Amino acid sequence: MKICFATNNQHKIAEVQAILGKTFELVSLAEIGCWEELPETGTTLEANSAQKAEYVWKNYQIPCFADDSGLEVEALNQAPGVYSARYAGVPKNDEKNIALLLQNLQNVENRKAQFRTCITLVTAKGKWQFEGIVKGEILHEKRGSQGFGYDSVFLPEGYLQTFAEMSMQEKNAISHRAIAVKKLVDFLLTHPHIF
Ligand code: IMP
Repeated sequence: MKICFATNNQHKIAEVQAILGKTFELVSLAEIGCWEELPETGTTLEANSAQKAEYVWKNYQIPCFADDSGLEVEALNQAPGVYSARYAGVPKNDEKNIALLLQNLQNVENRKAQFRTCITLVTAKGKWQFEGIVKGEILHEKRGSQGFGYDSVFLPEGYLQTFAEMSMQEKNAISHRAIAVKKLVDFLLTHPHIF
């Protein structure tokens, strides 16, 4: 059974395929001949991931799932959220995003934050959403050099290392994306009738 993961990020595809096993063959956007930019104009992670998955289903008639993630900071009313990639403007720049985040949290005591992922799955039988959350706090300065995005300022709850100080395996064992992906994979493997 073929299923499209609405991304061209081969790393993400390999990661999910490894959890999924052989029952499903994941294909990228390029592999289904989709070269156009997918619509992503929603104001929530739920809306954006649904928009992308529904676009692929409508135009290519292949079961599809799409993900959208963001950092939600309590003291900033859950910003940058769905705008995490372009928080400091376009084109996206991780260093500028972190600098703006730390500036906006200057003298702010409440450092609570979470990474959240929403995955939307669309097939002929309907639409389903899966959420993954990892709670933590925003540090006052960067620590570590692995990962991407806001990893170097995010300390997950119960850990001594930031996401950027962890190996990829350590981060993938607890990350928001991994939690949402596990929920999706469990669902796919136990609901064969949705195709
Ligand atoms: P995407 O939906 O996975 O492309 O994530 C959107 C943006 O959220 C990224 O460009 C990052 O700024 C931020 N983000 C999402 N996941 C992570 C993560 O695991 N670590 C750090 N930043 C992340």
